[in-house]
Amino acid sequence: MHPIAKDPLLRVEGLSKVFRSGEAELVLFENLSFQVAKGTMLAIVGQSGAGKSTLLHILGALDRPSAGAVYCANSHVNTLSEDDAAEFRNREIGYVWQFHYLLPEFTALENVAMPLLTRGQPLSTAEQEASRWLREVGLEQRGHHRSGELSGGEQQRLALARALITQPQVLLADEPTGDLDGRTGELVFELVARLHREHQLTSLIATHNLAFARRCHRVLRLDQGKIEEVAPESLPA
Ligand SMILES: Nc1ncnc2c1ncn2[C@@H]1O[C@H](COP(=O)(O)OP(=O)(O)O)[C@@H](O)[C@H]1O
Ligand SMILES: [Mg+2]
Repeated sequence: MHPIAKDPLLRVEGLSKVFRSGEAELVLFENLSFQVAKGTMLAIVGQSGAGKSTLLHILGALDRPSAGAVYCANSHVNTLSEDDAAEFRNREIGYVWQFHYLLPEFTALENVAMPLLTRGQPLSTAEQEASRWLREVGLEQRGHHRSGELSGGEQQRLALARALITQPQVLLADEPTGDLDGRTGELVFELVARLHREHQLTSLIATHNLAFARRCHRVLRLDQGKIEEVAPESLPA
C-alpha cells in the first residue's frame, strides 16, 4: 500500500523562505528537508498563514526559496531559468487551487483543452483528449457549458481535468476542497484520490481538513516554520 521510500521523486533540502518588507523580516520557514517517494499521496497541514501555499509555489517553480534546494523529477527546480521553469511546470506539474482559475467565458471542453493548445497540439486532438478527461471526472454532459455556469464542485472537477490532461507526474493541490461544502468537498477529495491512483501520480495536497489528511499515505505539518511528520492514523477521522 505505502509507496516504496527508495524512489524519491521530490527532494527538498534545507529550504527557507523569508519575506522582507523594509526593515521587517518574516521568516516563514527555515531549513525544511523532506523527500517524497513516487506514488505518494501526501497531505500538508498547518494553520492558516503557516506557509503551505508558499511551499507549494516553491515546489512547483512558481516562487523561489530564500535558501535551500528543490529537486523534482530530475530537475533542480529552484535554479531553473524563467523559460526552463515554465517548461518544467508545463511538463511535470498539474496544479489545482482553492479558487480554480478557470476561464468563465470558455466552455468546459475549451478550458480542459487549453493546456494542450498552448503546447501547440492541433485543435482536434486537444478536443478529443479533453472529451476523454471530461468523462474521467464525470462531466461528459457539461462539455459545451461555459465553465462559469458550473457549480463549485463541478468547477473543481474541471480544474482537475485541466491539471492532468498534460499527464504530469506531480499533482500540487492547494486547498482543493477549501471552498466547497462538506458533501461536495468529500466527492472532490474522492476524485483526487481516484485520479492519484489511476494515473500513478505523486500528489501533494495542502488541506486544513484533517479527515482528508488522514486518508493520505503521509502527512506533513507545517508549524511555526518547522515541518514535522504526522502519522495519518493519529488524526481525527
Ligand atoms: N509575497 C509576500 N510578501 C510578504 N508576505 C507574504 C507573501 N506571500 C505570503 N506572505 C505571508 O506568508 C504567510 C504564509 O502565507 P501562505 O503560504 O499563504 O500560508 P498558508 O497557505 O499556510 O495559509 C502569510 O502570513 C502571508 O501573509
Ligand atoms: Mg494557503
